[in-house]
Amino acid sequence: MIKPHGGTLINRYVEEPERSSLIEKAANLPEIILDDKNISDLEMISSGAMSPLTGFLKKDDYQSVVETMHLANGVVWSIPITLAVGEQKANELKSAEQAALYDDAGHLLAVMDVEEIYTYDKENEAEKVYRTKDGEHPGVSYVYAQGDFLVGGKIYMLNKPNHSDFLEFRLDPAQTRAKFEENGWETIVAFQTRNPIHRAHEYLQKCALEIVDGLLIHPLVGRTKSDDISAEIRMKSYLVLMEKYYPSNRTMLSVFPAAMRYAGPREAIFHALVRKNYGCTHFIVGRDHAGVGNYYGTYDAQHIFKEFTREELDITPLFFEHAFYCKECGNMASAKTCPHDGSAHVFLSGTKVREMLRRGERPPVEFSRPEVADVLIEGMQNS
Ligand code: ADX
Repeated sequence: MIKPHGGTLINRYVEEPERSSLIEKAANLPEIILDDKNISDLEMISSGAMSPLTGFLKKDDYQSVVETMHLANGVVWSIPITLAVGEQKANELKSAEQAALYDDAGHLLAVMDVEEIYTYDKENEAEKVYRTKDGEHPGVSYVYAQGDFLVGGKIYMLNKPNHSDFLEFRLDPAQTRAKFEENGWETIVAFQTRNPIHRAHEYLQKCALEIVDGLLIHPLVGRTKSDDISAEIRMKSYLVLMEKYYPSNRTMLSVFPAAMRYAGPREAIFHALVRKNYGCTHFIVGRDHAGVGNYYGTYDAQHIFKEFTREELDITPLFFEHAFYCKECGNMASAKTCPHDGSAHVFLSGTKVREMLRRGERPPVEFSRPEVADVLIEGMQNS
């Protein structure tokens, strides 16, 4: 089994009897109310999905991640995982050693050590992490809107977030690792997605599956932009697809609780490292991975992997060119494998597909499986 990033699978869940005494203590600690992105981060730190992180980043790690894509100890880490608060809360926390972390419904999640409270340069983070200072970028706009102070320190997880959806698909890294072992899979490719699976995605997954033992379809179900298709509809579409077109003894579906940052190249590195923690040995990176709008070049999220050695990433990226159906070839292909010009290729823009689905029309079978189209049509009509 592949080693977790940094060598050890972190587990920040507190066991009894410490848990009960910390819950009691939490009642007298200053409160921090987390938003959905913070909760995703907290959950992923606790479960070891973000190994080697044990809490929200302190200043030296924050600066090192933003400037060099490594933690202060030299381990690769490309996205700053931070907890921001406003000035008033920062003042309140100054004299505190610990804080209690709640969701917005008042459910206690964790206690954290308040090891450091520091200011940071939002524009610099935007430029280095997102490669743009444009406040229209959804990841950048989140950074600009959050508090001006970051609180760094270890977390102690007391209660899981209150999820009501996809419960049977919420597997922690220890659980996916155990499943892989049970299945006898030594090499596993992870597929990150925030979209329904169309024929191009299916093609990448199946090409990859030709060379490894198992496929983990790992859709992101944390916060996404409001115009992305909801996780609920997407999950339905994955299930109908898997039932009919995927080998059940080689494919697994589990949800990835992270929030989307739309940080393109840096998020591709993050997505790969985190999947290593779930036990995957390979990771698919196609066109404009984790991109949004025109902020990144089509293959920037592949090029960034050259900035690291194989040893320090220790998960194998599988790069794919833009895939499409070619009528002349009579199958899925890419510029690498197809000699025909664009007139033979079935290409539909996301906007066009959305318009068709909204009208109740199935996109061509070369673009999307009919079973998937039907789930999406029904979902769009009910939303
Ligand atoms: S992402 O934000 O999660 O990257 P999406 O769900 O669209 O978005 O993509 C999932 C993966 O499939 C990414 O690695 C992306 O690069 C890849 N991908 C999506 N569409 C294509 C395509 N037509 N050709 C090649 N790769 C693709």
